[in-house]
Amino acid sequence: MALVIANWKMKLGIDDSLALAKALKRLRVGDQKVVVCPSFVSLTDVGGVLKGTKIALGAQDCFWESEGAFTGEISAKQIRQVGCQYVIIGHSERRHVLKETDEMIHKKIRMAVSAGLTPIVCVGETFDERQNGAKDYILIQQTTRALQGIEIDSAQQIIIAYEPVWVIGSGQAIEPAEAESTHQVIRQTLFDLFPATVVNSNIHIVYGGSVDADNVAGFTGLAHTSGVLVGGASLNVDAFAAIIKNA
Ligand code: PGA
Repeated sequence: MALVIANWKMKLGIDDSLALAKALKRLRVGDQKVVVCPSFVSLTDVGGVLKGTKIALGAQDCFWESEGAFTGEISAKQIRQVGCQYVIIGHSERRHVLKETDEMIHKKIRMAVSAGLTPIVCVGETFDERQNGAKDYILIQQTTRALQGIEIDSAQQIIIAYEPVWVIGSGQAIEPAEAESTHQVIRQTLFDLFPATVVNSNIHIVYGGSVDADNVAGFTGLAHTSGVLVGGASLNVDAFAAIIKNA
């Protein structure tokens, strides 16, 4: 079983989101766990279409306070109310374009977990960080700052998505062997933060960055990789269906 998460970003309007959801509803997902993350404004409609299917709903962000005077923000509880089980937190586009810090991301994860959502926590190095030899350091730091002190019960899950920033949307994924060794670094960090039973049973690492139908099996076949986070290739039903099939 692989986890296949679709991140639709801000790329589809409500009509296109609905059409894609209706097409996805007809797919056979088999054993795979498929999660789609439409934009906030499409969550209700897409959730309505996918209700009763094996495809789960996720949001692309949530706020770190539970409620109050925070104009424009959306709480984890509201995301739950609209039918989501998952929420992406700390995507590199939010870290870099919206200047989200590790501290903001940590608070969002805390709130998501307390609202009963499964956070999909994104970590990843930029090209410069990689060229400077700082990749592992950055990943250890992002993972630690995101998750240190977060408590989950035995029924809760956390997903970590390793997404090299420079690979996102480039059309060229990294080699699976590199994803595997990077996931080992992240996993080692997790063992420093959580009891081994939690790391082994409740935390899952997925790879993201230019995943497509041709390269997906290289990632899902890895020992320490539970699935993939897909951006561009999740917007076309045939391309996404092939990813689910090959995952
Ligand atoms: P991509 O995006 O698959 O288009 O590279 C992945 C992501 O940003 O989550």
